[in-house]
Amino acid sequence: MMTALVARSQNGVIGKDGGLPWHCKGDLQFFKRTTMDRKIVVGRTTFEGLPPLKGRDIYVLTRNPDAAFKNATAIHSADEIPEDAIICGGAAVYDLTLGRCDEILVTTVKQDVEGDTFFNPRWLADFKPVETLEETGEYSIVSYKRVS
Ligand SMILES: NC(=O)c1ccc[n+]([C@@H]2O[C@H](COP(=O)([O-])OP(=O)(O)OC[C@H]3O[C@@H](n4cnc5c(N)ncnc54)[C@H](OP(=O)(O)O)[C@@H]3O)[C@@H](O)[C@H]2O)c1
Repeated sequence: MMTALVARSQNGVIGKDGGLPWHCKGDLQFFKRTTMDRKIVVGRTTFEGLPPLKGRDIYVLTRNPDAAFKNATAIHSADEIPEDAIICGGAAVYDLTLGRCDEILVTTVKQDVEGDTFFNPRWLADFKPVETLEETGEYSIVSYKRVS
């Protein structure tokens, strides 16, 4: 089973214009620490908005059979996701894969922001919070584990 990482604003936004509509240094450091030297999976839209990520083995989900990415591997279905990969979004990829995850690490950035991509509360329907990993005035990071 796999782990997913997701960050949301307190009003449920996860993205805007292909990127993140906040700057949260603590969450970026957590993302780096958690994904370093690991395989990560992102959707093609998210990949196009990412800066170069050194030290991560990146798998990009796309339906385009001819897609080729710089410093990343194209995959075309959930079946091609390595079992030890970390799921890193975006929304379409969470929809596709969270049913196969046993842990979701949820960052809540304590701001209301505008966006075009949203956290779906159903993503956590089969999970319960088990541990607060970080809590500051700016953000919290909570581990959710599968209950069913
Ligand atoms: N806050 C966070 O934690 C977080 C994390 C990640 C991303 N984001 C944000 O989320 C937004 C992007 O999310 P999104 O939902 O629009 O896009 P996305 O999930 O990043 O990528 C969508 C693309 O993934 C491919 N795809 C989706 N389902 C597939 C399937 N079943 N099989 C094969 N390929 C599939 C398709 O690529 P093709 O069109 O090439 O076929 C699709 O267009 C951005 O703003 C990003 O910054 C936020």
